[in-house]
Amino acid sequence: MIGVFDSGIGGLTVLADLERELPDERLVYVGDRAHCPYGGRPAEEIVARTFAIADELVAEGATMLVVACNTATIAAIAPLRERHALPVVGIEPAVKPAVARSRSRVVGVLATEGALGGAKFNGLVAEHRGDAEVLRQPCPGLVDRIESGDLDGPQTRALVERFVGPLIAAGADTLVLGCTHYPLVRDLIAEAAGPGVTLVDPGAAIAKRARALLADAGALAPGPGSVELRATDGSDLWPLYRLLSR
Ligand code: DGL
Repeated sequence: MIGVFDSGIGGLTVLADLERELPDERLVYVGDRAHCPYGGRPAEEIVARTFAIADELVAEGATMLVVACNTATIAAIAPLRERHALPVVGIEPAVKPAVARSRSRVVGVLATEGALGGAKFNGLVAEHRGDAEVLRQPCPGLVDRIESGDLDGPQTRALVERFVGPLIAAGADTLVLGCTHYPLVRDLIAEAAGPGVTLVDPGAAIAKRARALLADAGALAPGPGSVELRATDGSDLWPLYRLLSR
């Protein structure tokens, strides 16, 4: 079983990619909606929530964990790997592919305050920026709008425009969707960015990485595959997941 988790519904975008890439696996998803958003929380709290969810999935027999949350990956993947001796795949803002793609040499990263705040993100930028300028844009409030189910209303649109506008004005031609919730408002981001701007979402690459790790270990499941969805606030994740996994 592969355990996949996020602070809420954002990781469902990664889960859909995982199901496409690994249709024969048993996938169990946990959305920690009772504690969402993670983005403004201190790192210790994010580590504690990550351990709680991971411990449960491992106790149930997970043979791989996918941290489908940039914020939790940045705060907790190192201690999580120390805690559990199984493959742990994380997701980080895709600075490297964005820098490779940018012609204007200005890249904008949309992510939570938590993901952008720490030394780990600075290290990622230092490693991959080359001659490009990498602009950080925290998006407080956006995950809450998305969790509330408002994927295209005026308030969400206004927030997206407020966050994307300055990046475009500063010359960015490539935007990193550095939070797994943001692909859920991809159309709004694309509209606010305007034509000629590339949006980079690493979800599919993460799913390929998970597949490669399993294949290398000779651990691909023979099937049949299945998906189980859980939310820590008891909500039903299926209506949204059905839309995403079509
Ligand atoms: N989906 C998450 C991410 O990729 C975090 C959102 C949040 O809880 O703030 O960063």
